[in-house]
Amino acid sequence: MDKIILTGGSKLSGKIDISGAKNAALPLMATTLLTNEEMLLENIPRLGDVGSMRELLEGVGVEIEDPKESPGRLRLKCEKITNTEAPYDIVRKMRASILVLGPLIARSGRARVSLPGGCAIGNRPVDLHLNALIQMGAQIDLSRGYVEANVERGNRLQGSRINFPLVSVGATENIMLAASLANGETELSNVAREPEIVNLAECLIKMGAEIEGHGTDTIRIQGKESLSGTAHSVIADRIEAGTFAIAACITEGKLELVGANSSDLRAVLDVLLASGARIEENSSGLVVEGPGGSPGAVDIMTDPYPGFPTDLQAQMMAYMTRVDGASMITETIFENRFMHVPELNRMGANINVHNSTALIRGVKKLMGAPVMATDLRASVSLVLAGLAASGETTINRIYHLDRGYESLVSKLKSCGAIIDRVET
Ligand code: EPZ
Repeated sequence: MDKIILTGGSKLSGKIDISGAKNAALPLMATTLLTNEEMLLENIPRLGDVGSMRELLEGVGVEIEDPKESPGRLRLKCEKITNTEAPYDIVRKMRASILVLGPLIARSGRARVSLPGGCAIGNRPVDLHLNALIQMGAQIDLSRGYVEANVERGNRLQGSRINFPLVSVGATENIMLAASLANGETELSNVAREPEIVNLAECLIKMGAEIEGHGTDTIRIQGKESLSGTAHSVIADRIEAGTFAIAACITEGKLELVGANSSDLRAVLDVLLASGARIEENSSGLVVEGPGGSPGAVDIMTDPYPGFPTDLQAQMMAYMTRVDGASMITETIFENRFMHVPELNRMGANINVHNSTALIRGVKKLMGAPVMATDLRASVSLVLAGLAASGETTINRIYHLDRGYESLVSKLKSCGAIIDRVET
């Protein structure tokens, strides 16, 4: 397993191109199951999870090509669904595989998708996805670790009024995909409002779906008999952009984030400004300059969009380890998303966790140390801490990073970080 070795102390400076959003690309790739025509997706990031989704889709009959002459472009075509099973060995690697469940049922009337199971940050149930599909007329059985879903032969999913008891990005996306081919109108309330949801809705509308309300807490979808292929582009990755904005702050550097969309990052930028950062929005993206010396302490509570994103909680915590005073971070979305705390404390941070709240008392300096990556965003928080620490940090199990960050090491190195990836 590869590892990252870095030496802290460089003030990052330079330009970073923000890649396409992982969490937009994955549902967008699933849209190909809804049509027998070609989908052309642009700005697809080269990530482990995209590779897993590609493997999954090819396994059910999608032909996919990524023309070498056009990096980031995917051509996908599903003339016929030849297999309706999403196997455990792919789903266990990438939980977002559950997003093929809705489209497979909507297009072919049946699906057998492995239950994703939990992960480091929580047990990650999919009951909201399943209950909504049952409301739409699907017969759902759980057998031997798989979801077995069927719609009576000759029938289609039925449009329904569905209220989600809690906000779920994946459930919102799964049911948007399914409802686009259902019979009649579906009204979804208490839905997720993330930019990735809007990106998906805009793609479905270009395919002929009739959708309104995306980006608000209620989405209405008029189901269609069939949808056409289209071309669509993946939005910039707001979590990657937020990660590098925090990298600029934690190293007291200055980074230009090309392609970043500030309107997707309002809650994060507000926190960085409150900590003393300077932020300039320009035509190409964002310029973020860290505060000199200790950042001001800011309290954070994660929340569904447009609140502070849970996917930037670990990165912000790394930044808050050097505050002048103390910062409180409360994680409200996942039940176990503090796996980075013991590793940050091994680097000299002073963090105490009580249930879903962490109290971070600022320290003068972090010390480089060998640390362990546990999940995607915790891993990158250790990279950020290592960039600010004195001395050398070694981060093991960095395959987590490859799932969600395209060319992380080279992007940081190009801005002055002393960082290398070492094959072991
Ligand atoms: C998406 O996961 C993202 N992944 C996550 O990003 C992100 O952290 C999360 O949304 C929240 O923003 C992708 O988009 C591929 P949820 P998802 O359903 O859809 C509970 C990353 O680092 N829940 O919004 O799985 C769930 O346990 C990843 O890029 C149920 O109880 O998240 C959680 O507590 C990590 N039942 C809460 O809802 C369900 O059926 C929000 O989860 C579904 C979810």
